[in-house]
Amino acid sequence: MQKCSSSLALLCLGLLLASVTQADEHDHLYKQDDEVVLWMNTVGPYSNRQETYAYYSLPFCKGTVTELSHYHETLGEALLGVELEFSGLDIKFKKDMPKSTICTKTLSGDDLNAFIYAVQNQYWYQMYVDDLPLWGMVGEVDQSVSPPVYKIYTHKKFDIGFNKNQIVDVNMSTTDLVTLTKDAELTFSYEINYKPSSVNFDDRFDKYLDPTFFQHRIHWFSIFNSFMMVIFLVGLVWMIFVRTLRKDYARYQKEDELDDLDRDLGDEYGWKQVHGDIFRPPNYPMLFSACVGTGWHVFSSVFITILLAIVGEFYTERGSLLSAAIFVYAATAPVNGYSGGGLYARLGGKRWIKQLIVSAFLLPALVSGVAFAINFIAIYYHASRAIPFLTMIAVTCICVFVILPLTLVGTILGRNISGQKNNPCRVNAVPRPIPDKKWFLEPALIVMMGGILPFGSIFIEMYFIFTSFWAYKIYYVYGFMLLVLIILTIVTTCVTIVCSYFLLNAEDYRWHWTSFLAGASTSFYVYLYSIYYFMFKTRMYGLFQTVFYFGYMGLFSLALGLMCGMIGYIGTARFVHKIYSTVKID
Ligand SMILES: *[C@@H]1O[C@H](CO)[C@@H](O)[C@H](O)[C@H]1NC(C)=O
Repeated sequence: MQKCSSSLALLCLGLLLASVTQADEHDHLYKQDDEVVLWMNTVGPYSNRQETYAYYSLPFCKGTVTELSHYHETLGEALLGVELEFSGLDIKFKKDMPKSTICTKTLSGDDLNAFIYAVQNQYWYQMYVDDLPLWGMVGEVDQSVSPPVYKIYTHKKFDIGFNKNQIVDVNMSTTDLVTLTKDAELTFSYEINYKPSSVNFDDRFDKYLDPTFFQHRIHWFSIFNSFMMVIFLVGLVWMIFVRTLRKDYARYQKEDELDDLDRDLGDEYGWKQVHGDIFRPPNYPMLFSACVGTGWHVFSSVFITILLAIVGEFYTERGSLLSAAIFVYAATAPVNGYSGGGLYARLGGKRWIKQLIVSAFLLPALVSGVAFAINFIAIYYHASRAIPFLTMIAVTCICVFVILPLTLVGTILGRNISGQKNNPCRVNAVPRPIPDKKWFLEPALIVMMGGILPFGSIFIEMYFIFTSFWAYKIYYVYGFMLLVLIILTIVTTCVTIVCSYFLLNAEDYRWHWTSFLAGASTSFYVYLYSIYYFMFKTRMYGLFQTVFYFGYMGLFSLALGLMCGMIGYIGTARFVHKIYSTVKID
């Protein structure tokens, strides 16, 4: 427990520092002959960015230097599988180095097999110099002869560009292909050249961004398209409701003026009929309020993280986006308690402590469950994706000592401030039977239809997000993401309101779950899309990659579903309150 809380304190401090200041052991300023560190990160198949192993899991060898100033790792890095190891190469600032040997190695049978496997599967590795990433292929296959010949690159040439006392540009090229055979003598070597460069330090990451990809016409066009859809939908919903609701009100008014006998003979129908059941709490109110609370929580943390990402350029520091996201998620926990706890109280729930725990741990438990399962496979494959044990403890500590108490605070506030029932109509003692209706008004079908338009408004953005996560692109157009989030919110609200209106008009009062699930079904389509993406846009293969892909895509869809479900439910709840508080109920 002691260890746990101290590691937690350190972690929070680290996160705070990471988000407030830029400083770590590198201030990125060098003097002549200062030590420049080449960090070896990971190696893995070219076609899957997420399957990575430690660089030295392949029988590469280290340089001669062993002394090194200290180095730290953030939580985000650990979760992302960043595993930096010192290369041992002797690199000094502004000091050219002619071709020199790193080490000489005689290939044993095991080493040979490991290298051949890596070359066969198109492994490439990643390194960092002064936080700038570098990539290189392990080797090449010569397919023109049979059996194919496997060759490995043994020489690395680094071109380092400097601007005054800072490193602003790094290139690496690999040469000297050597055929891999048993007992071959491999000599690994490197070479350093410094060049003055005119790149500004602040712009040094620009060459990793891909504007022709991210600011492609399609991207602009899709945003524009979704925007038109929003205007059209909002207009449509407005028109339908102004006209239909006015008609409904006029009809109900007329019926009120008839005397009782006439009314019995008249045909009252439509949404007003269910006023005695409309505010009947849904089934599973605890789960329902936990889902809505978690949806709010996801929404607010996504929103804040996107804003932070627009302001700060997170891509210049490894893992900082993930660290920031975790920090924001923990800090916005009161939102979860406030909305979930308040809703639970309004639904008449009594076991609020249990609700609080379900609410606080719903998403963390799902995420840890999936991560745990994937971890098992990762450990089996020795992938660097296996989350270290200490990191798991740190994450658990955040859940128990930060998220839980903050959710508690939120819940208490929510129950006291917004826990009063404010329903415009009373709930009848006996539930009204739900009349038979046309097949297309069944809740299950409404739920499935509800997700189509919201999905249509976001799927192009999904392509860009997937591509930056599963392929080698740095996502940096967070302005687009914010716009898409806003569009998604509006479209989901409009669509679920229309869906719920049809449902209520069919005198079916089960709108709570229906509106939630109608919004949430967007994520079902996103998951289907991710299957399409896996089959046609990636070249992943093997158990590890498949499980990893579908596991994390499932989590992503789930979080998205909770968020969209919450949006759908909140929109519909406003709408329901509005229409039932303006109609006269006797
Ligand atoms: C790195 O490569 C790019 C593109 O080939 C080139 O413009 C740049 O000058 C190179 N930088 C250094 C330091 O050699």
